[in-house]
Amino acid sequence: MPDKGGFPHFMIKEIFEQPQGMRDTIEPRLSLNEGVVRLDEIRSSPDELRALRRINILASGTSRHAYMVGQYVIQDMVNIPVDVDYASEFEYRNPLIGPGEITIVITQSGETADTTAAQREAKAKGSRTVAISNVIDSTIAREADGVLYTLAGPEISIASTKAFTAQMAVLFLFALYLGQVRGKFSREQRRLYLKDLLEIPEKLKVQLETASLCESLADRYHAFDDFLFMGRAAHYPVAMDGALKLKEVSYIHAEGYPTGETKHGPLALIDEHLPIVIIATRDQDDAGSMLRYEKTVANIKTFKEQGAHVIALTSEGDEELAKLTDAIPIPTTRELLLPILEIVPMQLFAYYMAVRRGLDVDKPRHLVKSVVVE
Ligand code: F6R
Repeated sequence: MPDKGGFPHFMIKEIFEQPQGMRDTIEPRLSLNEGVVRLDEIRSSPDELRALRRINILASGTSRHAYMVGQYVIQDMVNIPVDVDYASEFEYRNPLIGPGEITIVITQSGETADTTAAQREAKAKGSRTVAISNVIDSTIAREADGVLYTLAGPEISIASTKAFTAQMAVLFLFALYLGQVRGKFSREQRRLYLKDLLEIPEKLKVQLETASLCESLADRYHAFDDFLFMGRAAHYPVAMDGALKLKEVSYIHAEGYPTGETKHGPLALIDEHLPIVIIATRDQDDAGSMLRYEKTVANIKTFKEQGAHVIALTSEGDEELAKLTDAIPIPTTRELLLPILEIVPMQLFAYYMAVRRGLDVDKPRHLVKSVVVE
């Protein structure tokens, strides 16, 4: 019988297990000295990986948000087109996939019926399949041509937390590995990527120190009925996952939206009754990240003028946004690793909102841990 290890719920225990889950998932697969990633488990030859035309990724729920981040990461780092789809939608759209491609399926449980069906469909069409599974020897892992396990440890709470951060890390390693095989990066470049990735478990620990801040925000915000979560680029799926966590554990209506899209409609909704949680982090060494940040600051000013309450995930030391918003600081790292840190305060916020509302955090109504029916 799993125990809560002194925590009041599995969800909060699992949120706090993320630094360890991350370490266990990444460290055995890389050598910083050599600047090398080892992912032989995907069982694809270097020739196959060099000839790869496209990658497809399929999943459901939170695992789907991981692949949305992965799509940005892989396309940005290795320039290979990445197609993504809901596992539950895949078979209905005559998927044009076949040999010369890899289809990655992402799943915590390895038993989700929609994802299993999508994997079988991809296989039947002649694509190689690689599973990213958190459960060893799950159905999806057994049926795949190659498997990359996330080693986050058993997830008991229905809301997925630590599997998600481990999935994002595996996708980052996968992108790096592809780049390595395809001769995209020098050894020194790979070392820089790996160094930043290896610092993430410690930064997750620092991120967890925002727990009491998130708890006090939940005290202030628990009575609202609707929330909008926003992010741009690789941060949009993080906003989606923040909204999903809030919905499922606290039963509050929440939508994840791409920040720039809000002016095409949702802006009409924004006022003092619709709090916003927005990702406004930045990587000062990355011009694209700074552009994203500047546009986001302009959006926040508009939302404030319309009377909105804004919770902003901001990079440490951002005084301007600290004055303008209810800011939650995020440690600095490179743009493509920020999502792994950003999701943590959103998980904490959802958790404390549910606790504040007196709900059964680990077992939200109508939900099951593994959806084994289509
Ligand atoms: C949300 C959540 C679900 C799962 C989804 C897929 O917190 O847990 O959305 O992510 O049911 O499950 P797996 O990853 O087991 O295939």
